Amino acid sequence: MVAIAIDGPASAGKSTVSKILSKKLGFLYLDTGALYRSIAFYFVCNDLDYSNIDVLEKGLKNIDLKLEFRGDQQRVILCHKDVTDSIRTDKISSLASDISSIGIVRKFLLDFQRNFAKENNIIMDGRDIGTIVLPSANIKIFLTASLEARAKRRYLEYQDKGYKGSYDEVLESIKQRDYNDSNREIAPLIPARDSIIVDTTEYTLDEVVDIILDIVKKSVTV
Ligand code: DC
Repeated sequence: MVAIAIDGPASAGKSTVSKILSKKLGFLYLDTGALYRSIAFYFVCNDLDYSNIDVLEKGLKNIDLKLEFRGDQQRVILCHKDVTDSIRTDKISSLASDISSIGIVRKFLLDFQRNFAKENNIIMDGRDIGTIVLPSANIKIFLTASLEARAKRRYLEYQDKGYKGSYDEVLESIKQRDYNDSNREIAPLIPARDSIIVDTTEYTLDEVVDIILDIVKKSVTV
């Protein structure tokens, strides 16, 4: 099996790039951020305080998390409900970043993520895929861009979807998530030592896809 790990900060374009690459390569694409988002969503919706360890442990035991793949779409099924779209809010983004710093949450999701790579050629995106989840991935990309470029892209995306919020608010929220994700004790966002850093600040989406495809073709036979 071939595994491609794509890590990087919020709004660097990981999921857009991964989706296109997975289609071109015929690989399964797993968006691991959606898993952390779903866990945060579970605790918020059930009004449970995950900072209380007993509540957290009990909640994790009750979580039934499944992924369904339809075409190039990953659907997240949480306790028999499709939450794929509901987990894409700004509030869930920051709660996911918060809850993902807790060790037992990360442990809960570790095997879940690894099992997908056992049976599929896979592109997995996240924060710790190259460092922790799939340390022996064939290719490790660290996809990044300047804070301003990422905020601008996210802001335009929000405008497209009709969400409210100023550019400054978007920038501030990404900055906060960068800080949380990079400074937590467990599995922080850092490039794996053997990763290739791709800075997309000055590139178009097509250019980024071509750069990574080139890396893939030079590294593995697909
Ligand atoms: O990729 P995303 O924005 O959907 O991720 C939401 C949050 O989940 C992110 O801020 C940190 C956390 N996360 C993580 O800790 N490890 C991953 N592999 C993926 C996401």
